[in-house]
Amino acid sequence: MSARLHLLASLVSLLGLAGETAAAVVHYPPTASKINNFTFALHGSGSPGIYSSSTTPDNQYGEYNWCNMPHVRNREYKTPSREYTLEYVEVIQRHHKRTPYGSNTFFKEDVAWNCVGEGPLYGVRTAQGEGADVTGVQWQASTNPFNPWTTIIGPGFVGSTCQFPQITDQGLEDSITHGKDLRAVYAKRLNLDSYFNPSTSQIRVTNNQITSQVASGLVKGLFPSSSYIEVHIQSPTFDSLEPTYPCNKANQLKTAITTGSQAWNDHLSQAGDLYAKLDSISGIAPKDTSGWHTSFDHYYDNLSAKQCHQKPLPCNLNSTSSCVTQDIADTVYRIGNWEYSWQFRDAPESAQYSTLKYGAWILELKGHLQDKISGKSKMKYVHNVAHDGSISPLLGLLQIAKMVWPGMGSEVVFELYSKSNSYFIRVLWGGQPMETSTPLKRLDMVPINDFFSYIDSMVGSGSDLFAACNQ
Ligand SMILES: *[C@@H]1O[C@H](CO)[C@@H](O)[C@H](O)[C@H]1NC(C)=O
Ligand SMILES: *[C@@H]1O[C@H](CO)[C@@H](O)[C@H](O)[C@H]1NC(C)=O
Ligand SMILES: *[C@@H]1O[C@H](CO)[C@@H](O)[C@H](O)[C@H]1NC(C)=O
Repeated sequence: MSARLHLLASLVSLLGLAGETAAAVVHYPPTASKINNFTFALHGSGSPGIYSSSTTPDNQYGEYNWCNMPHVRNREYKTPSREYTLEYVEVIQRHHKRTPYGSNTFFKEDVAWNCVGEGPLYGVRTAQGEGADVTGVQWQASTNPFNPWTTIIGPGFVGSTCQFPQITDQGLEDSITHGKDLRAVYAKRLNLDSYFNPSTSQIRVTNNQITSQVASGLVKGLFPSSSYIEVHIQSPTFDSLEPTYPCNKANQLKTAITTGSQAWNDHLSQAGDLYAKLDSISGIAPKDTSGWHTSFDHYYDNLSAKQCHQKPLPCNLNSTSSCVTQDIADTVYRIGNWEYSWQFRDAPESAQYSTLKYGAWILELKGHLQDKISGKSKMKYVHNVAHDGSISPLLGLLQIAKMVWPGMGSEVVFELYSKSNSYFIRVLWGGQPMETSTPLKRLDMVPINDFFSYIDSMVGSGSDLFAACNQ
């Protein structure tokens, strides 16, 4: 038993909860930084990273880039010493750049989103497979002025030819590059084919179509010889990836952390002047019921989507001299990051909340690793395309030392290694070993049983998780 495992084990017995699967969530608070300092978020200056382009200069790669977060690349990849053999890799990423969501587009939109010629593919295939008897079908968003609702409900949609949301042309480019970069690192190390081989690889998406749009670019870069593949998807009634499985206790905790907590309500009221400026420009009612004033999410999404696509910051439609300034946008970005750090790491209930929210996916990951170790599975490479609502509770469950709002393309990689009949795990965040606040510290060649003990200590068994969600 390693020192780290001892620590966990003594912690568990201290709490009188000995036994393999008894979950005893312990919250290890994150490191103090500018991100989780609300005074700095509200009154400081500058953005918490890059918000204007998908490109991060090589000498800054690894820095936070909301438009295109750092991921594993050959240039920065650290190959472990020779006695370690890479056995299995599982990646989870957030989708890449997209248009805003329809629900976040209430500024009477002054900017059109162009997707002519680029649209989601739909249709269904027969069991005979590729080329058998059906035609690929691509959607083209359209409006028609004879439909009165087009102009009444949808000023934000007029002139735009995208679905809201839809991965943009730039987001699709980023998805292809992401796939190529992963291929450059892992294809030779795992001996992956140039085509997608379902007996050794698996791709998984959520029920939100933008994850499939990303997969179509990703797979182009990752398995360049394939043009049509099957991806895994779970029913929205129990999907663990997005996640959408029902968990009443998690919902209660979310309320307790946000609108039910003093800290959350204080931050909203302290940001009152900022809200007043934003509302006067956007025309959003100060007492709206669509969530513009329960968090900065909508304003953040709105402003960052524009800036990441080199579109100007919005102005008031009646008075083009009243515009969102870069200072206002940067403050929204700092507060947005503070909100994510609070919800998933700083709030005392954040570890329990994250664990209930993402426990099912982590149990699936543990199962994949166990099956690989026991020889039951021949899988080598599994890739999940998901959301910020997936990456955030995963980071909360692993108790990352410095939380941020996971930007576009954010990536966590689980690498399983063997060394003379023992197994180790390395977890990469932004392409580098993840620092946590737990007794496991940096997740760099952690003995696999220590990692499993940590999961057990947080989640317990599947039935423990189910019971905890319904308590
Ligand atoms: C938080 O930020 C403010 C403003 O920059 C600074 O004065 C203060 O020392 C910071 N607090 C901590 C705990 O670092
Ligand atoms: C920003 O919000 C406004 C509504 O307030 C909406 O019309 C617009 O489409 C949004 N834009 C983005 C980029 O989110
Ligand atoms: C523009 O002016 C009209 C008429 O006064 C008003 O109803 C509307 O709310 C204004 N829009 C914005 C975005 O301020």
